[in-house]
Amino acid sequence: MWQTRKLDGSDAALDEAAALLRSGALVAMPTETVYGLAGDACNDRAVAEIYAAKGRPSFNPLIAHVADLEMAGQLVELPPQARQLADAFWPGPLTLVLPLKAGAAVSGLVTAGLPTLAIRMPAHPLARALIARQGGPLAAPSANPSGRISPTLAEHVMTGLGGRIAAILDGGPCTVGLESTILAVDPDGTVRLLRPGSITAEDVRERTGITLSSGTDKGIEAPGQMLSHYAPKGTMRLEAKTPAPGETFLGFGPSGGDLNLSPSGDLTEAAANLFRAMHELDRMNAKAIAVAPIPDTGLGRAINDRLRRAAAPRD
Ligand code: TXA
Ligand code: MG
Repeated sequence: MWQTRKLDGSDAALDEAAALLRSGALVAMPTETVYGLAGDACNDRAVAEIYAAKGRPSFNPLIAHVADLEMAGQLVELPPQARQLADAFWPGPLTLVLPLKAGAAVSGLVTAGLPTLAIRMPAHPLARALIARQGGPLAAPSANPSGRISPTLAEHVMTGLGGRIAAILDGGPCTVGLESTILAVDPDGTVRLLRPGSITAEDVRERTGITLSSGTDKGIEAPGQMLSHYAPKGTMRLEAKTPAPGETFLGFGPSGGDLNLSPSGDLTEAAANLFRAMHELDRMNAKAIAVAPIPDTGLGRAINDRLRRAAAPRD
C-alpha cells in the first residue's frame, strides 16, 4: 500500500520520480495520448508490479517507451520501413512492434515472451524528461485498472490506482486523448495496423508511401485487444440519433446531449474528450448511455474502435 504522491513537472519532481523508478517503484506519467503506468523496463520486479497494480489477468505485453532512436536501437531491429515510420512520426503517438534484438536488456515480462517488442518515443516533454533522467526504457501500459477507461487526467489515475503506485506526475490533460496507433513491421517489410489511433492509414501513406495491411491478415493481433475494454460502468448503445427515456446522451456535433464530445463536430476535439467523457459518465452514475453517431473516417475510425469496445458485452 502506497501513499500515492502527486508530483508536478518541476526539475525537483522529475528527479524524485526518476529516483523512484530506479528503486523499482511505479510512477504514472503523462504522455500526449493517455497517462502511462511507468516502471523500469529492465527490472523484472518493477514490471511484475505493473501487472499487479493494474490487475491485468494475464501477461499481456507492454510498450517500452524510449527517449531517442539510439535507445530504441539497443532494444529492437530497425528495418528500413521502421526507420521511415520513426522519421515521420517520432516523437509522437505511434507504437512500432519490431523484432526484439538478441541480448536486449528488457525484462521478459515486457514482451510476455514474444520475439517482438512494442516500442514508442512519446512526444510529451515530461515523459521524455523522465525517460532520459531514469536513463533507460520505461515499460508503460495505460494507467488504468485492467478493463477500465484509459486516463487522460492525473485525477483519473488517482481514482483508479491511488494507493497502488508510488507517484503520479501531473502534466495536465492529454492532448490526443486516444492510445497510440500500433503498427507491426514484419521481417518481410509488411506493415500491419494492430490498433487504430490518431495517426491514420492515410497519414502513413502520405508521409511514408507505405500502405498498411490489416492486422488480422496473418492471424496475429495485439493480444491486449480484447473486445470489452475502455468500458464505463453503464451500458452503451451506439449510433443513437436520440436518447430513449432514462438514457444519458453522449452527443457529437449539433445533436446536443447531456455531454457532447465536440459541439462543432470536430473529430480531433472529440478524440481528446472521449475518455474524459466516459469518466464523467461514471461520476454521474449513468446506467444506460446512448452515443450519437460518429463519422467513420480518419480519426473517427479510432474513436469508433474505442466506442465499440466500450459497448461490447461484458462478463
Ligand atoms: O498510447 C499508448 O500506447 C499508451 C501510452 C501510455 O503510451 N499505452 C498503451 O499501452 O496503450 P497498453 O498496454 O494499454 O496497450 C498496449 C497494446 C496492448 O494491446 C498489447 O497487447 C499490445 O500493445 N502489444 C504490446 N506488445 C506487443 C507485441 N510485442 N506484439 C503485439 N502487440 C503488442
Ligand atoms: Mg490499455
